[in-house]
Amino acid sequence: MKNRANSSKRPSQSGDASPPAGFFPKWLNINVAIQDVGFFLVGLIAALVVGWIIFPAVLYSKQAQPINFNHALHLNPDKVDGIEGEKKEEKCSFCHEFREDGTFAGIPRLAKCTECHEDPGSPLGETPEEKDLMTRYVATDQQIPWLVYSKQPDCVYFSHIAHVNMGKIACDTCHGDFAGNEKLPLYLENRLTGYSINIWGKRISGFYWNKKPSDRMKMDDCAECHTQMGQEQNNACFVCHK
Ligand code: HEC
Ligand code: HEC
Ligand code: HEC
Ligand code: HEC
Ligand code: HEC
Repeated sequence: MKNRANSSKRPSQSGDASPPAGFFPKWLNINVAIQDVGFFLVGLIAALVVGWIIFPAVLYSKQAQPINFNHALHLNPDKVDGIEGEKKEEKCSFCHEFREDGTFAGIPRLAKCTECHEDPGSPLGETPEEKDLMTRYVATDQQIPWLVYSKQPDCVYFSHIAHVNMGKIACDTCHGDFAGNEKLPLYLENRLTGYSINIWGKRISGFYWNKKPSDRMKMDDCAECHTQMGQEQNNACFVCHK
């Protein structure tokens, strides 16, 4: 320690970047301070790499969807005829409809697909994806076990009709442009909680410059929109946890 302290007082001969003697007060041992800052930065960077890159990579496991479903293709009237509705959101309700009692049907059952994909012997197109649909599900009359990206834990009560019809909130606000997808996004399951990355969001830090509801859907995110839309009365525990 003593030696270092001495050497920092000597004016630098080799012209390196150490500051000139006398510039900093004597009690501040500048070389040691620079070293400490250096160690701190190395430690900080290592912690950030572990926390933001390694931890998320280990935390999530990839799960395959049963088959691909191409939203963009089915919503293109030049390719698929018979999805009723003028505007985009009317087309959604051909498959994602509200039942008479106001409950949301969610992901359509196989019967919706077989309105068009009815005969395993004569597919509508020529792709291997459709063949897969025909042989594995239509021919055997089995439901397709889709994984739901936005699935909340069972203790959470969420109703689409309140948000879509009464709140007049567009599907894209919460789900992003999901219906523009040709390929299903990768489903990443959180090993600790069992639900998908869409709930916690892609950024483990939880920090976004301009956060949208479609970025993540934790309890605070639901409440944030309620507050913004003047719906504070819906931020009482029992409203979302019945
Ligand atoms: C021909 C039927 C069909 C139509 C029309 C349709 N969808 Fe879908 N949708 C599906 C199927 C099947 C799935 C399940 C597979 C998947 O995740 O893509 C799905 C899944 C979704 C999901 C994923 C939910 C989750 O969290 O996993 C969203 C969001 C969605 N659709 C939005 C829309 C919107 C918005 C429209 C209208 C612009 C629309 N869909 C039109 C069949 C359809
Ligand atoms: C209104 C009729 C209609 C409905 C309902 C429908 N499809 Fe299709 N689907 C088509 C047509 C037509 C094609 C072929 C388009 C082409 O290849 O040009 C197609 C193609 C496909 C393909 C191959 C897509 C690709 O990327 O090559 C798959 C898989 C598929 N549909 C799955 C489904 C599933 C699952 C459902 C039920 C949720 C469904 N379809 C509902 C008309 C329909
Ligand atoms: C205010 C945000 C919000 C809006 C707006 C919204 N959703 Fe959702 N959606 C959610 C949440 C949250 C879930 C998960 C619900 C749960 O697991 O209880 C979900 C689930 C779904 C699912 C999967 C349901 C299942 O079978 O489990 C589909 C499909 C879906 N939404 C489609 C749509 C469509 C289509 C629209 C527009 C008509 C829409 N959503 C509007 C937030 C929203
Ligand atoms: C983009 C804004 C937005 C987001 C995100 C949102 N909400 Fe809401 N929520 C609303 C609005 C607006 C209403 C009031 C609708 C009305 O009654 O007019 C509402 C009402 C509710 C209600 C009371 C109506 C009912 O069905 O009893 C519940 C419960 C609720 N939200 C749960 C949730 C949960 C759970 C989430 C997150 C998974 C969520 N909301 C995310 C805007 C939002
Ligand atoms: C606006 C809707 C909303 C309100 C209000 C709300 N919660 Fe939640 N809560 C959620 C959602 C969505 C989740 C699941 C996502 C998450 O873990 O953040 C959740 C998760 C939880 C969990 C973790 C359960 C699990 O299985 O992971 C607890 C505990 C909880 N809430 C307690 C409360 C308490 C206590 C209050 C009142 C102070 C409250 N919540 C108010 C929406 C809400």
